[in-house]
Amino acid sequence: MGRWNVRKRIDADTQNTHDGQALPRTLSWPHLIAMGVGAIVGTGILTLIGIGADKAGPAVLLSFLIAGFVCACAALAYAEMASMIPASGSAYTYSYVVMGEVFAWIIGWSLILEYSLVVSAVAVSWSGYAAPLLNGWAGVPMALMQAPHAGGIANLPALFVIAVVAALLIAGTRKSAGLTMILVAVKLSALGVFVWFALPHFDAANLEPFSPYGFARNMGADGVERGVMAAAAIIFSAFYGFDAIATAAEETRNPKRDLAIGIIGSMFACAAIYTVIALAALGATPFTRFANSPEPLALILREINQPGAARFLAVTAVITLPTVIMAFFYGQSRIFFVMARDGLLPHGLSKVSAGGKPIRITLFTVAIVGAISLFLPLDEIVALANAGSLVAFTAVAACMLIMRRRAPHAPRGFRTPLAWFIGPIAIAGCLYLLASLPQKTHLWFLFWNLAGIAVYLAYGRRHSLAGR
Ligand code: ALA
Repeated sequence: MGRWNVRKRIDADTQNTHDGQALPRTLSWPHLIAMGVGAIVGTGILTLIGIGADKAGPAVLLSFLIAGFVCACAALAYAEMASMIPASGSAYTYSYVVMGEVFAWIIGWSLILEYSLVVSAVAVSWSGYAAPLLNGWAGVPMALMQAPHAGGIANLPALFVIAVVAALLIAGTRKSAGLTMILVAVKLSALGVFVWFALPHFDAANLEPFSPYGFARNMGADGVERGVMAAAAIIFSAFYGFDAIATAAEETRNPKRDLAIGIIGSMFACAAIYTVIALAALGATPFTRFANSPEPLALILREINQPGAARFLAVTAVITLPTVIMAFFYGQSRIFFVMARDGLLPHGLSKVSAGGKPIRITLFTVAIVGAISLFLPLDEIVALANAGSLVAFTAVAACMLIMRRRAPHAPRGFRTPLAWFIGPIAIAGCLYLLASLPQKTHLWFLFWNLAGIAVYLAYGRRHSLAGR
């Protein structure tokens, strides 16, 4: 293997504990499942269901199933790779070990995009539920709580929630993980309340016509790309978050066992929850009523005359969505940390403070994702985040298959059943979803990658530790 695409040794990360650069091991699997559900259940079911309904009509149900199935296949590959290489950095680290530095850089660069933009997206979604409350209770003008595309000046609550989560993370991972567990329980109870009130209003007529915009992505007369797959490509983000668990590997006490339990457990729990919520939502009211709403589930509850439940749901979303932001924020700072530790990003970024927290990276992240959430629309942010995650998931499934060939008997805490069926489905599914994203997203994603290659050539290639 030439220096240009050097591969990292499998155990290189677990041994990489130079002064000031190791993270303390404080987490175990209940933390990870809570972290998983905390990271997965969020914008997707609370807000994107409205954008998805606009793109697919009632067939958004199908979009949920397709996105969930592809994501579950990728999750299995993730669990296998995480149990084989229990080191921080998830898809980036697996690619480094399996496919070499150039691929690892591309995947790491995609993960930076995914994690940062999910933080922005969930903050915007949080603001969607918080703004009407702040407006009603404290008279905060809507113009200060909406981005320009929605007629406002800037989305200040989105920036606010990002700053609060950053402060919590700096205060301590352990404490935040405990808090996450409580908030996850509250979040699930609010979704239970939604189903309780919405399901009795189920009317099959609301599901007709089931698929008004067809299956494959197609351009509508209003310039919006629609179809079941266009919706699935957006809805996909409802299912990821389990990969944020894998980024915590170096802080997990028994990573080989705990990571697989955390990833698979949280992934399947969420798939079941979404199916029930989506059915209840679509059956309760015609989809056109809540399509594109910034707070669709609360709106549905108001439509069926349950304003109290709507307020409860909105308040709960406001209290609990920060767990999603927290998980991705955490993942983001760890990706930076690992890439900097490998020498691919400036070393200063990998310094952790006396308490073991990468503070500089966290503050840097606040500035970037905060600016994005102030001004950009949710669907565009999510689409670009998904492009990053779809590329990373494709790589993880490929890594799993390559390792099955290259080291079939190497120890794995978890083995994906039917790997040669699941792996290719994950890869083909992710690529089809990637192709179903809006054209504008493809263009932005191309720019992002060109910038990434430039950074690699200018910095990473020359400073890489593995390359020396
Ligand atoms: N799965 C996360 C959400 O839906 C990203 O908010």
